[in-house]
Amino acid sequence: MHSQEQAKKILLDNNRGGYTIPSPRLYPFQWSWDSGFIALGLSHFDEEKAFSEIRNMFKGQWSNGMLPHMNFHHIDPAYFPGPELWSSNECKWAPKDLPTSGITQPPVYGFVLAMMADKFWGVNHSFDVLVNEMYPKILESHRYLYDFRDPYNEGIVYIHHNWESADNSPVWDDSLARINLTEARDISSLRRDLEVADASQRPTNDNYNRYIHLVDLFRKYQYDDKAIFENCPFLIQDMLFNSMLVRSNEGLIQLASLLGKDDRIIKEWNERSVTSINKKCWNDKDKFYYDFDLRSNELIRIKVSGGLMPLFAGICTTAQAKDLKDSMMKSFRAGGYTLCASCATDEPRFEPLKYWRGPIWINMNWMLYHGLKRYGFTEEATLVRKETIDLIEKNGFYEYFDPRPTTSQNEKHLGGNSFSWTAALYLDFVHNL
Ligand code: GLC
Repeated sequence: MHSQEQAKKILLDNNRGGYTIPSPRLYPFQWSWDSGFIALGLSHFDEEKAFSEIRNMFKGQWSNGMLPHMNFHHIDPAYFPGPELWSSNECKWAPKDLPTSGITQPPVYGFVLAMMADKFWGVNHSFDVLVNEMYPKILESHRYLYDFRDPYNEGIVYIHHNWESADNSPVWDDSLARINLTEARDISSLRRDLEVADASQRPTNDNYNRYIHLVDLFRKYQYDDKAIFENCPFLIQDMLFNSMLVRSNEGLIQLASLLGKDDRIIKEWNERSVTSINKKCWNDKDKFYYDFDLRSNELIRIKVSGGLMPLFAGICTTAQAKDLKDSMMKSFRAGGYTLCASCATDEPRFEPLKYWRGPIWINMNWMLYHGLKRYGFTEEATLVRKETIDLIEKNGFYEYFDPRPTTSQNEKHLGGNSFSWTAALYLDFVHNL
């Protein structure tokens, strides 16, 4: 079957009536940033499905504005951690009729809808209705971040769980290591992911105990952000998350202008974010953006692909953009590595097969492509797009890929198969050639 047909089939097979699961067996619910990318892919061949993907995601939004990272529209006992871990039904802000997780994920809906608007606004009536309906909800999800996750009013929001961004990124090892495991549960026997994916490509049990311990803490504080801020050992101002927030603000500003809404607050947030990120997270010696650890009060100087995402968001100056492009070609590319590893290949913590510690992720490549193009690096943007399309066409629609030059071209596939955002962004790449 032709790859485009295969991609569409994956998205249709993974559809559960109104929303799409990221991957059969491995991820059987609705995830927030996944659904944004999935909606973009769907919009190329089934716009009604794309629109309902977004509507169904926002059904999980909490009354404090937070968009949870998972909606449990149905029960699936084959997955851990399911709704019982989060107990959202006991939280006063969570929806009463839909169990959700209790953390968020990088904001995507501002830019997803803005990108779709280029094609559908004023042309497709159901799209205009969707934008009218979603705009205030997306705005509230950003307001939540600026009101509750930015205690110093810097315009840089923090994540309080690693699942809110690049999962087991090496950037957070030291912060997670501060969690005292003697107080944590051992949940290794509850894990179900290892039945579907190879343990060498997944987070370790020790890590998982830390992740669950953080959730236990959030439940104990009844998801009160002030209490979590005061007590959580893990508080990171993350570059991937904040870049996506800025790009999503930009999308919201575009939508506000279509709708004739007042966009002053979004512009204010955004200017503060851009200024502070450049002041606090740019390291002029290394010419790179790093995450900031709010507990140890320092930059975490490990190069990961999240540090390239200011390109996507338009946060950097032309000179900084060139530095980032050079870093990409040197630290992520030198030696013939395929673009773009999730961790720089010259970092001691780089692990080519382990999830977010080295493998290539298609959503990151897609954002990198748009970022490079934005700053006029056409040659490098074309390279990223070409390598992404090749990876998928030679290996299939996998979750992540081995970047090493020594691995043969068609043996680079890792993690879950039939992965929805890989299929969706593949379609977006080929439609925008
Ligand atoms: C994994 C990824 C996360 C993604 C989820 C569903 O947990 O780390 O980014 O949203 O799977 O695909």
